[in-house]
Amino acid sequence: MCGIFGYIGKKNNAVNIVLDGLKTLEYRGYDSWGIAFTFIEYKAKKEIKSIKIIKKTGKIGGVVLSEKVRSNFALGHTRWATHGGVTKINAHPHLDCSNKIALIHNGIIENYDEIKNELISNGHNFRSETDTEVAVHLIEENYNKLKKQKIKNKKQKVRLRDDGSTFLEAVRLAFKRFAGLNAIIVMDLDSRSIVAAKNGSPLVLGKGKDENYLASDSHALQRHTRDLYYMEDEEIAIVKRNKIEIYDVKDGNKKNKVNFHRLTCSYKLDGKGSFSHHMLKEIYDQPKIINQIIRNPDKSLQKIVQLIKKSYGTYLVGCGTAAYACLEGTYIFSKIAKRHINYSVGSEFGYLVNYLTNKSLVLALSQSGETIDVIEAIKKAKTKGATIGAMVNVYGSTLCRLSDHQIYLHAGTEQAVVSTKAFTAKLAYLILISFSIIDKKDEGINLLSKSIISVNDILNDEYIKKISKLVKYLNRYNNIYIIGRGLSYPIALESALKIKEASYIHAEGFAAGELKHGVIALIEKGTPCIAFLPNDETYGASLAGAMEMKARGGYIVGISYKPHEVFDCYLPIRDCGIATIIPSAVVGQLLGFLLALERGINPDMPRNLAKSVTVK
Ligand code: AGP
Repeated sequence: MCGIFGYIGKKNNAVNIVLDGLKTLEYRGYDSWGIAFTFIEYKAKKEIKSIKIIKKTGKIGGVVLSEKVRSNFALGHTRWATHGGVTKINAHPHLDCSNKIALIHNGIIENYDEIKNELISNGHNFRSETDTEVAVHLIEENYNKLKKQKIKNKKQKVRLRDDGSTFLEAVRLAFKRFAGLNAIIVMDLDSRSIVAAKNGSPLVLGKGKDENYLASDSHALQRHTRDLYYMEDEEIAIVKRNKIEIYDVKDGNKKNKVNFHRLTCSYKLDGKGSFSHHMLKEIYDQPKIINQIIRNPDKSLQKIVQLIKKSYGTYLVGCGTAAYACLEGTYIFSKIAKRHINYSVGSEFGYLVNYLTNKSLVLALSQSGETIDVIEAIKKAKTKGATIGAMVNVYGSTLCRLSDHQIYLHAGTEQAVVSTKAFTAKLAYLILISFSIIDKKDEGINLLSKSIISVNDILNDEYIKKISKLVKYLNRYNNIYIIGRGLSYPIALESALKIKEASYIHAEGFAAGELKHGVIALIEKGTPCIAFLPNDETYGASLAGAMEMKARGGYIVGISYKPHEVFDCYLPIRDCGIATIIPSAVVGQLLGFLLALERGINPDMPRNLAKSVTVK
């Protein structure tokens, strides 16, 4: 999703500060970017101030600034297109008609068209096809009206230098009119103010010494300051070089106490090290992370165990990869703790919350803690009085602040858009929690230790070569089918997602038992069929499924603890009981990664995808 970064303060290299800030947000996914900065030039000894804009499609870079550019006030934005094509003119920031106000935006202004028609009839000129641009022109409209009013009230001929309060009010009145979930940051040349308003999309303020910062998340700020303020919905902030004030969007009341949170953890935005891609590095990080979880699980693990034990109904909620971890959780808790745990994807849970009570526990799983579908679901669950737990990988994320209890994955920053290590970290915690419920945590630790060995068996050159050979075959097809039963069913779904989002090949994961209910009609000669066949009660039935696909010409890839004649390609996985799901997931990750490379795709930043989906 869009990345936002702003600076105002004592340093006069604001453009570079903002550029660096945008680079730390690249992992969120984007297709264009831009910067707005104040610029002072002198003509006939007269100081002329203006806002300059640089906008480009594609990756951040290629900015050559003349050394004359000294700016201490700038905004930057990485755009993930929601409304309007991927073009330079649609990239943010957007300027008003006077070119003295610049705005960046994250979200969707659902009622943009009515506002746009009104503004056009008032003489505003639009340059882009975005919904965002109506925001900056509406602010300009409000600002001009308020200034006129102010001068009339004060009967002043020359406009006083604004302390920013008029600009703040102009933005507040505009933001109140927007329908939908949005975050905007607006800079005003005249009052030298930045105003930020939020409803839905995340926004963090960073307080410095004689300088202040704004960003979409704390990752981008930590190198500058650790004093952070996470804006809440319906809040609006004015940020100047030496002040940050928070107001209520609805009534304009000032928030008396602004509590800054001291960021204690530090996010090393790990480079790729010796790896070619973040995704590959994060795949290889997994044994270390699982080991760390075993040795030093998050302090809240026991608390979550207690909450599950005393809840009347526990619900696991997540999206995408996190949803598959939730689904896997239902099998793990049933098998180990003999407990019925419910599961829902975030975007659907809101339609199911009516059965929640104040005895319900909703456990949201989310790597970023910013997925809007999960956040919206949790907000609805809270209205039913449910207790909210969050299993997340990012401190201070919106989901952390919305939940009553948090369990951190401690998986390190996950920078590849395609999630890997956060998924297996969730599985590790779900296994530990379920064994802890029956007071057999050590058994869980033992199986997870075995899974580390099994993953290391896979993460070696020989095995990678085997998968690299297989992907040459898979790459010849447009459809790949993946089956699994029981614990392996969510792994089949997750593996299909890895292949889809990393390589753009259509892969379909499904319950092996569903084969004969329709899918088998699609199997032709050579169709790639991947079967997860662990050493558990599903082996025989899933093998039968593989045979049925083989009988119809399918090319069978067996991912199993032992070979079988029906396999055209055998990928061995050392058996580690219920924890076999972890090495199985790693094979799926490698299939996605290596298929992407085979097809010349960068799996770190796949097309159309963002690291966290913060807009509906
Ligand atoms: C995973 O590879 C995808 N990028 C995506 O499905 C992701 O898992 C989903 O958007 C949820 O993200 P979250 O874990 O940050 O909530």
